[in-house]
Amino acid sequence: MSGRKRPIVAVCRTVPDVGLKLLRQSCTVKVHAGSVMTPRQLRQFVKGADAILTLLTDHIDGDVLEAAGPQLKIVANYAVGFDNLELDEISRRELVATNTPGQLTDSVAEHSMALLLATCRRIVEADQFVRAGEYKEWEPMLFWGMPLLGRTLGLIGSGRIGAAFGLMAHRGLRMRILYHDVSACPDLEKHAGATRVGLRELLRRSDVVSLHVPLLPSTRHLIGRTELGLMRPQSVLINTARGPVVDEAALTEALMERRIFAAALDVFEHEPTVAAALRRLPNVVLTPHIASATREAREQMSIMAARNILAVLSGKPAVNPIRTT
Ligand code: GLV
Ligand code: GLV
Repeated sequence: MSGRKRPIVAVCRTVPDVGLKLLRQSCTVKVHAGSVMTPRQLRQFVKGADAILTLLTDHIDGDVLEAAGPQLKIVANYAVGFDNLELDEISRRELVATNTPGQLTDSVAEHSMALLLATCRRIVEADQFVRAGEYKEWEPMLFWGMPLLGRTLGLIGSGRIGAAFGLMAHRGLRMRILYHDVSACPDLEKHAGATRVGLRELLRRSDVVSLHVPLLPSTRHLIGRTELGLMRPQSVLINTARGPVVDEAALTEALMERRIFAAALDVFEHEPTVAAALRRLPNVVLTPHIASATREAREQMSIMAARNILAVLSGKPAVNPIRTT
């Protein structure tokens, strides 16, 4: 990159500085310091950029790529999920797209575990009860939860995050692991004794169902009314993947009618909007898309996005290319 004009990197929101520092060594970095941009602001912001560092809140379509200009080489997504990128538009222009796999695996698996325990032991409800001054006397039947030791966890998706959560649940809580995926996960079978089953069988047999699939046309509303109907009355649904994988209206109804025990959601169908009906329910734990929110994970993601950009701008292959075909 030496001897030529410094390439311009457009960073769509403030991300941890460690990655930006790397970029600033050889690039001109402009950061949009405010909140999520409108499509129009985004198109304006990326004009003239050689690289765009995007967040999962930025929808990257053909218009944005066009607005950037012909010098654009890479779209580096600051996330492992990349349903916010229109990959056919990216590949049509022979641009590189990258994501940040690996670094956030443990953080997301730990958050799934936190949600699981919070849900089954009704931690949030109980906390609100104490804060409201309602704890008057010890009671034998107060806040009964659901025990987990030796119960069955059904993982839908057995990629890095699903497998890490499965191992954690198997080793920590001796849970039996079922999983459903398009391909087998030998690691999970070997180290957690996991069994690969069809979706319906998984839903029928699991005490806990946890989602770890990317959002694709084939996974949109993967869990709807029919699937919820197959789940056990004492079961729990955890979603740390992407909101639209679950039909939220159908889930709200199932929770209202207590057809399942509870749910925990870190992602929402119409994020960041969370339907009032869902917010009113006591048997759901809600977090604002923070499963990867540890300093360790979020800083590593920043470094990875920067490394991908630096590699591509200096003519090398990306470290974490997203296959676009
Ligand atoms: C977070 O949701 C991510 O995809 O990294
Ligand atoms: C509960 O606090 C017990 O001692 O059983």
